[in-house]
Amino acid sequence: MTVDEALALARRLGVERGDAQALIAHLAGRDRTWLITHGDAPVPGAEAALQRLADGEPLAHLTGCQPFHGLNLRVTPATLIPRPDTEVVVDWALELLAGLPGRPAVADLGTGSGAIALAIKAACGRATVCAVDLSAPALEVAHANGEALGLEVDWRQGNWFEPLAGRHFDLIVSNPPYIAGDDPHLPALRHEPLTALTPGGDGLADLRTLIDAAPQHLPPGGWLLLEHGWDQAEAVARQLSGRGFGEVALRRDLGGRARASGGRWPG
Ligand SMILES: C[S@@+](CC[C@H](N)C(=O)[O-])C[C@H]1O[C@@H](n2cnc3c(N)ncnc32)[C@H](O)[C@@H]1O
Repeated sequence: MTVDEALALARRLGVERGDAQALIAHLAGRDRTWLITHGDAPVPGAEAALQRLADGEPLAHLTGCQPFHGLNLRVTPATLIPRPDTEVVVDWALELLAGLPGRPAVADLGTGSGAIALAIKAACGRATVCAVDLSAPALEVAHANGEALGLEVDWRQGNWFEPLAGRHFDLIVSNPPYIAGDDPHLPALRHEPLTALTPGGDGLADLRTLIDAAPQHLPPGGWLLLEHGWDQAEAVARQLSGRGFGEVALRRDLGGRARASGGRWPG
């Protein structure tokens, strides 16, 4: 099948044009501009790959990579596919780090592909970054991403703060599973690990666990930043204040939806 035939098939299958171009360019080992002048070039495997895309398989799983905060990350079905929404929490972390002298210590809990940890380390090389995930296969992907990008992160496997006993961090960041167990969008996300998406129930269990445990790992003045669902901001702010955090604040995405909340441990 040629480039032009593959693009025509994508239209018939109802595949979004940008996604089809990205997939075809990936299969051809070229960039998207090359497609414009090479309509007759053969693209091996295009028909099967476009069918998988039309059947709902994520583009990132078919190409094996996903851009995030200027980095190109490898992703597999063992990891969540990093979302642009999560860049809100990375930008917030970088703003706070800009005001911290020396070598601030950062922890990313539930690192998945390593997205947050690596984006922070790439933009703030003087930070020492540690990242935790319960999933060994996800952590392998994160580790490989760190190696490929030449970014040094201390990768730890375990349950939230368990592998960090006795350690303190100037900044703790997390995008934990927060989708409610009965959310109607979950079936559409079936290609990603369920344990990365939802803790079940109202979706707040892991956020509560992190807020409860974080003060044991924060020095006075340390920050906790948490990504959450657009409708969870009030519950998270209440939990942060109730646990004793001050300067509780909220960040929104470009669409104006609440995406992340955080607070500062007093002192
Ligand atoms: C929403 S994903 C976020 C992945 C990545 N930080 C990102 O933003 O793309 C949540 C991550 O938390 C991890 N996780 C779930 N439960 C955990 C636990 N009890 N301890 C540590 N990590 C956990 C999952 O394996 C998953 O990688």
